[in-house]
Amino acid sequence: MSNWTHQHILDLATFSKKDYFSVLELAHRFKSLPNTGARKLPALQGKLVTTLFFESSTRTRSSFELAARNLSADVQSFSPSISALKKGETPLDTALTYVAMGADILVVRHSVSNVPEQLAKELQHAGQRTAILNGGDGLHSHPSQGLLDLYTLANYFDPINPNPDALIGKRIVIVGDILHSRVARSNLWALTACGADVTLCGPKSLLPEEFEAFVDHPPPGQKDDPIDKRGQIKIEYSLTKALSKADAVMALRLQKERMHQNYLTDLNSYHFEYGLTHEKLKYSGKLIPVLHPGPVNRGIEISNDLLEDRSICLVEKQVQNGIPIRMALLYLIAAIDS
Ligand code: CP
Repeated sequence: MSNWTHQHILDLATFSKKDYFSVLELAHRFKSLPNTGARKLPALQGKLVTTLFFESSTRTRSSFELAARNLSADVQSFSPSISALKKGETPLDTALTYVAMGADILVVRHSVSNVPEQLAKELQHAGQRTAILNGGDGLHSHPSQGLLDLYTLANYFDPINPNPDALIGKRIVIVGDILHSRVARSNLWALTACGADVTLCGPKSLLPEEFEAFVDHPPPGQKDDPIDKRGQIKIEYSLTKALSKADAVMALRLQKERMHQNYLTDLNSYHFEYGLTHEKLKYSGKLIPVLHPGPVNRGIEISNDLLEDRSICLVEKQVQNGIPIRMALLYLIAAIDS
């Protein structure tokens, strides 16, 4: 893993094809470990991993903590509702406080975009070597989710050797609240980097046409795209058309907490047009897997029957794969530091 160069993991726009290979290969090795006494590896012994979640989470926070423990790190978590944030302390001063306690890696989630990146810059400015791992920031990025989704799909298409090339030429549909989704944005970087073509689908109010050019230019502050040739992005407002010839579909949560205006007429109409059901999947012409990053609004983004159909619904596998993926990310950035 000597090719790894990222001190922080903030966004997948900076990931090269080699980076995707490194993460998936390592995650697959961690996942394949016998579930015996060998479950805990000594790789992060003596390191302190702090989960600094300013916004709520079940999956990301818990699986980062489990991943860190599986690598023998010490784990410290922060509860915003009973913290000094309530007395007006800033995210930066909160981060510096945990750095002063010896945090080697901060896993940061915040409802405002780019907070993890700002913290990384500020810590660097303060001469600190603490690594920042983005656990999801505003509408911007959720890199560990993008990677676990990529791994879940690679595993589906090539169970023996789940690697990024398993995505070449695959047609992946992402349906739902694209506008507010950091998961969609991270998946767009990851899937197109690995050669998949992505069709984005949803109501016009939640899917601006500009998304078609989302990966055409590196984000501000980044000089080049590390990927020579990406897959394409298409916009399709009809789900039945989007599903035609699709190889997989990912539904996204309607993020009501981020909707500050009326984006939808009503939830029943949304489910009728864009909710995934066994019936609608038939438009793909074959059996295709269904993903959702969670949490799910049951009966709205996916019907209950489909959500519980383990033969094609990979939601549980996504959660399981989050652990080895996050182990791989912690392992790789800890190795940079040592
Ligand atoms: N997918 C995801 O980020 O879930 P949590 O909000 O539960 O972490």
